Amino acid sequence: MRIILCGFGVVGRSLAKLFESRSDDLYARYGLKPRVVGVFDSRGAASDPSGLDLERLVASKARRGTVGAYGDDGGGDAAMRRGASDAPRGPPMIDELDADVLVETTSSSYADAEPGMSHITSAMRRGMHVVSVNKGPLALALPSLTELAAYNRVLLRFSGTVGGGTPVLDYARNGLRGERITSFAGILNGTTNYILTSMAGGGRSYAAALRDARGRGYVEADESLDLDGVDAAAKLVILANWAMGMKVTLPDVSRTGIRGVSARDIRRAASKKCAVKLVASCESSGRDLAVGPRDVALDDPVCVNGTLNAVSFTSEHSGTQTIIGKGAGGTETASSILRDLIDIRKEMSREQ
Ligand code: HSE
Repeated sequence: MRIILCGFGVVGRSLAKLFESRSDDLYARYGLKPRVVGVFDSRGAASDPSGLDLERLVASKARRGTVGAYGDDGGGDAAMRRGASDAPRGPPMIDELDADVLVETTSSSYADAEPGMSHITSAMRRGMHVVSVNKGPLALALPSLTELAAYNRVLLRFSGTVGGGTPVLDYARNGLRGERITSFAGILNGTTNYILTSMAGGGRSYAAALRDARGRGYVEADESLDLDGVDAAAKLVILANWAMGMKVTLPDVSRTGIRGVSARDIRRAASKKCAVKLVASCESSGRDLAVGPRDVALDDPVCVNGTLNAVSFTSEHSGTQTIIGKGAGGTETASSILRDLIDIRKEMSREQ
């Protein structure tokens, strides 16, 4: 399977390492032989139609801060050896290089979804399947991206966008196949959950809990994504499209973040045996999509602590079930990309 990798940050590097460490197993168990033919980051690119040496790629990035250094280190194609600035990257690489799957791991933008949107649409138009862990394009345009994928007869998968490595989307679509999910609600953002947990358990003020979360590296560079509920709303939109067949985007979500939650709110909730959580919820009947701080009973399975995520699905005949797990992390998210690639591999062999 020929792969173009967009972005080589924590997730991209974790994926390269997984490909290396699991290569025998992936081939033996799933017939999957990933070959990364092109990769680019914000500063450079490297490509080799016969497959890049992943160990060297990781080393080049560590040493020089860009995959563009791969060519200088003795690998890659002629274009690469001309230097990082000349090497095609972004849509030009996607237009020039033949591949089966594009893996999109660049960071999420909720203003215009770029550059991820152009990567995804260019790849689909060239007949490549797409795996995205970039939430921006999906949150802003999942209904039209789904149509574009169908039109070009390619698969679009994005397991890692909700729940990191925890298979929330798989559970909703496959674990509950044949069922009709009528509603779901949960904690989809680990950072705000950490802050609220630390206000409740550690008796911290909002400002002190936020400082602590920043110190641990949990808070996104653009803090508003976590604190104002944008990240949770993006995941809610993705889940509503995927699990409920809704055609919704980010502006359809009514959203409040956690900046207004005070120590008094936390104490008031505790006196009712509840905890304040940033809850993302979806009701199919009213097509209601909301993110906001809510009181959640301490004995509700969705009331998880720390950076954990949890989602409860209620369906017509099976009652309510809750899936809980870590919602972020490089290796965890890379493992969700692997799941998507295995699915795509299965589909590709069915078509042959
Ligand atoms: N900022 C996100 C969170 C990271 O805290 O859950 C994973 O999307």
